[in-house]
Amino acid sequence: MTKIKKISSFEILDSRGVPTIKTKIETEAGEVETSVPSGSSTGKAEAKELRDNEKRFLGRGVLKAISNILKIIAPKLEGKDTNDQKAIDLLLKDLDGTAQKSHLGANAILSVSLAVAKAEALSRKIPLYKYLAGFFEGEEGLKLPTPFSVMIAGGKHSSSNLDIQELMVVPLEISSFPEKIRAISEVYLTLGEILKKRNQSNNVGLEGAYGPKFKANNEAMDLIKEAIAEAGYSGKVKIALDVAASELYIPQEESYYLKSEEIVLKKQQLLGLYNDWFSRYPIISIEDGLEQEDWEGWEELTKRFSKGVKVIGDDLFATNPGRIKKGIKLKAATGVIIKPNQIGTLSETIEAIKLAKESGLEYIISHRSGETNDTFIADLAVASRASFIKAGAPCRGERVAKYNRLLEIAKDLR
Ligand code: PGA
Ligand code: ZN
Repeated sequence: MTKIKKISSFEILDSRGVPTIKTKIETEAGEVETSVPSGSSTGKAEAKELRDNEKRFLGRGVLKAISNILKIIAPKLEGKDTNDQKAIDLLLKDLDGTAQKSHLGANAILSVSLAVAKAEALSRKIPLYKYLAGFFEGEEGLKLPTPFSVMIAGGKHSSSNLDIQELMVVPLEISSFPEKIRAISEVYLTLGEILKKRNQSNNVGLEGAYGPKFKANNEAMDLIKEAIAEAGYSGKVKIALDVAASELYIPQEESYYLKSEEIVLKKQQLLGLYNDWFSRYPIISIEDGLEQEDWEGWEELTKRFSKGVKVIGDDLFATNPGRIKKGIKLKAATGVIIKPNQIGTLSETIEAIKLAKESGLEYIISHRSGETNDTFIADLAVASRASFIKAGAPCRGERVAKYNRLLEIAKDLR
């Protein structure tokens, strides 16, 4: 038994320059720390991060959340056994008492919940992914996830006029993990060279992806196709999209506005556009293709396209077990994005993954646009045997931290 001796917490900056929380837990085995990410295009059903809404940091300070950790959470958790992840997470939920963790703040709660798991791994003297594997099918036969790596960003993630939030590449037909990393890096560097040659911007957005200007969304797909070919990966590296369609939706008009093409589309027209993209590009997956409350539309999207393309819900599910159950019942998607900070505790994240596993939903462990150098999601992806991980472009410290952690685990597992 390893008892929590002390919990401390303080404000740090995330990759966007926005405050976030770092929490440390001390036990007899030593000290661990976690820091939590934050989204920019958050879903309505997500657990709520607590922000100060005061003058400092344009309202985005997290001192209230930190005070909740120090004054409310720490006194209840000190002395508890780090082996009791489930009981601790339940206690955290009860202390908060709200449906979306808005009282103590999902950011406060998650930083403690994840730190408890790291503390237990440390006390057992095993790597985090091996400890976390115990919540799933155990250590035997663990494998590395394939990256969904963003190359071009639009929407809220860059200053590009591109409507699609993330145009990603997937090294699907490459088997070794280090070679997958090599492929995403080579495509990324090649794309950068192409942009430079054409005097287009190769500045990068929130997740390290390029964000030049386009006249239409398919221009960006042409560019990626070209970079894949020039880097020598045609057929081996595929394309995945995160449309983040809730950000394009105009509720009063029940329509989607595509600003790069200056068109307003009804749902059926948008589905028609997708059909065109799917027939012209090697797209294997579409995330958030419709807005987050149109369950009927999602059923249709899945019915129409899921034979050839993965239909993935992010804002739709918000890593929320209740919403995932609804989606399974309605056959609203074939996959789910898993982001621990969308739900707020490790136990509920595990529950969401287990639901996906049981029903044959694809699950993709994911970072956020506001990240830190914490690599928890890399270990979680391996432990849960996720087929895929979203960790950003192979560029920028907080993104490559995850890839580099996976490379380390790959070496361990060899
Ligand atoms: P976010 O976006 O982290 O800015 O919310 C990521 C995504 O939509 O997948
Ligand atoms: Zn998304």
